[in-house]
Amino acid sequence: MSETASISINGKSHELPVITGSENEQAIDISKLRDVSGAITLDPGFKNTGATKSAITFLDGEQGVLRYRGYPIEQLAEKSTFLEVAYLLIYGDLPTTETLSDFRNKISRHTLIHEDMKKFFDGFPSKSHPMGQLSCLVGALSAFYPESLDPNPSEEDENLTIMKLLAKMPTIVSWIYKKSLGHPVIYPRNNLNYVHNFMNMTFGQITEDIDIDKSVVSAMHKLLILHADHEQNCSTSTVRIVGSSNANLYASISAGISALWGPLHGGANQAVIEMLENIKNDGGDSAKWLAKAKNKNDPFRLMGFGHRVYKNFDPRAKIIKKACDDVLDKLGIDDPVLEIAKELEAAALKDQYFVDRKLYPNVDFYSGIIYRALGFPTDMFTVLFALGRLPGWIAQWKEMKANKEPIGRPRQVYTGDTKRDYVPLDQR
Ligand code: CMC
Repeated sequence: MSETASISINGKSHELPVITGSENEQAIDISKLRDVSGAITLDPGFKNTGATKSAITFLDGEQGVLRYRGYPIEQLAEKSTFLEVAYLLIYGDLPTTETLSDFRNKISRHTLIHEDMKKFFDGFPSKSHPMGQLSCLVGALSAFYPESLDPNPSEEDENLTIMKLLAKMPTIVSWIYKKSLGHPVIYPRNNLNYVHNFMNMTFGQITEDIDIDKSVVSAMHKLLILHADHEQNCSTSTVRIVGSSNANLYASISAGISALWGPLHGGANQAVIEMLENIKNDGGDSAKWLAKAKNKNDPFRLMGFGHRVYKNFDPRAKIIKKACDDVLDKLGIDDPVLEIAKELEAAALKDQYFVDRKLYPNVDFYSGIIYRALGFPTDMFTVLFALGRLPGWIAQWKEMKANKEPIGRPRQVYTGDTKRDYVPLDQR
């Protein structure tokens, strides 16, 4: 006998189905509640609302567990490569040697972007934020690849659009960076692996060959893997909801990029470094800044701390903290903000305010310190988050289409004026 939940509204009881997921999480299916009772549910910020059934990522915020397609994030970060993880997320299983090589070859055939797109890069002011540029450029891909506009593409065309986006994103990201410096862009090199090619386009020079340190490439793989998916977060929900209107993949991902930009979401990695720099320049007194974060009259929040779902350590933060020590050590970098970050973390973890609210460091707390050690400027950090999140967004968009999910359209409780009659201008 399947479980049901009962709800009583205006003295009338209604039975609602209970859905159980593969990790035994339970959900009350309220999709017919309004039909039978006239009532909707209200949940601002969707704090307790499941928007979909998904088989991509499992997250247990109480236990600090994160798995992509069943594989623990710790194992993937340690043993896998970013492209392998991208395949896993998008197609559901780890690739064989043959499928991975085919996937890699297909992607490498699409790494160039249309030469006319270069004019867009020239049009942006050199100091404009890379996230605004990225969202615009990714949306613009639909203009160059009109086959992506078909709302019911063949499997082959859908895969082609996916490959093109995966292939062109590193080129777009690195060219945004090159343009910000006023440097000539570096074209993709298809003999390099996905991440190495990206690093070469970003840090390579047209005038000479540059060796990108293996440890730098490997740290980048790890960071991108750790960001690759995180179930129904703000940007992913945006991608799914935009895609549910049958908007094309490029438009849906462009919207996701905009959602990621905010400092409460992916923009936090930039905000963390700016915060740590401020603390350093202010004398490095972490107690003073913790007090600010706790003060309800002060809008300041401890950036890189807290999470909607994790009420325990963010498993990604644990891996990144260790990677941060390793990378700085290997590159011989002594970054004073790392010490401040560690002090701040230790103090917050002992502080009753943070303990009571179960606020722990999240993925963004240490990632910026690594990006900086690798040579990226602060305003590129969130773009790197987007590069990592791309396979997750694609997988979620593809799943939404495969499930034939209805258009996303929440309801509301109206709190405005009740009916009133129009008053002519001269009588107001
Ligand atoms: N510093 C100080 N207080 C905080 C913080 C923080 N970073 N985060 C949450 N709180 C307090 C908040 O004021 C509230 O207190 P009270 O119950 O007294 O009103 C309580 O903790 C619960 O917070 P909330 O805002 O209701 O929680 P939420 O789930 O709506 O927000 C969050 C989650 C991530 C937006 C929030 O923790 C935050 O703003 N963190 C800083 C920004 C950040 O690091 N974002 C990156 C998130 S991880 C990367 C990603 O996937 O986006």
